[in-house]
Amino acid sequence: MLVETHCHLDFPEFDHDRDEVIQRAKDQGIDYIVNIGSSLKGSLASVELSRKYESIYATVGIHPHEADTFDLETGETIKGLAKNKKVVAIGEIGLDYFKRYSKKENQLPLFLAQLNLAKELNLPLVIHTRDAQADTLKILKEAMPVRAVVHCFSGDNLFLKECLDLGFLISFTCNITYKKAQDLREIVKFTPLDRLMLETDAPYLSPEGFRGKRNEPAQIRLLAEAVAALKGLKLDEVERATTENARRFFSF
Ligand code: NI
Repeated sequence: MLVETHCHLDFPEFDHDRDEVIQRAKDQGIDYIVNIGSSLKGSLASVELSRKYESIYATVGIHPHEADTFDLETGETIKGLAKNKKVVAIGEIGLDYFKRYSKKENQLPLFLAQLNLAKELNLPLVIHTRDAQADTLKILKEAMPVRAVVHCFSGDNLFLKECLDLGFLISFTCNITYKKAQDLREIVKFTPLDRLMLETDAPYLSPEGFRGKRNEPAQIRLLAEAVAALKGLKLDEVERATTENARRFFSF
């Protein structure tokens, strides 16, 4: 059994074959899929998917890219959605100073507001952070205790250690298979198995050999194999541990 902990099946890339994509994941032993909200529209669609498919759980949240257009009404809608039974986390939320699609001064209060919502509803956080590690850690440390996963981990050893010390989970995508990702593969080796989760971030980040193509949850199996090889473990050990971690974190 495997869990896909982060993908975007609500995106238009899946409009023509969503059922088949979900079936292919099932055929590969992926029993649960967490579909991640990243905008108002995406959060609504994510909850809708969780209603339609038993194996799908949802998160709701506004991505830092959307911070410039965020308003109070959107916040209220997210809050209402978050109370749905199959909503298992608030996310993906955080800070992105790499692309800067939204202003930093709008990203910070949005992150904080959603972090507080998660605490109020006792839900964990799915964190997106890019070129913003210091601010992300500062905000999270001030908000402790919080439960969080750092999605698509791309930091260095020091950032890894800080996240682990705060009790956070670390999730890796298929980008660990890229030829140039040697440093990231070292980080995978340093990440304790009881803190590690697997995600595709589909439709993005297809594994080596599939680059340029749409990614999908079925590729979690290939990712699990890559992690097992890096850590010198059996595949079923990685399956069992990452599944337990995901089910404990998201409470399903
Ligand atoms: Ni994502």
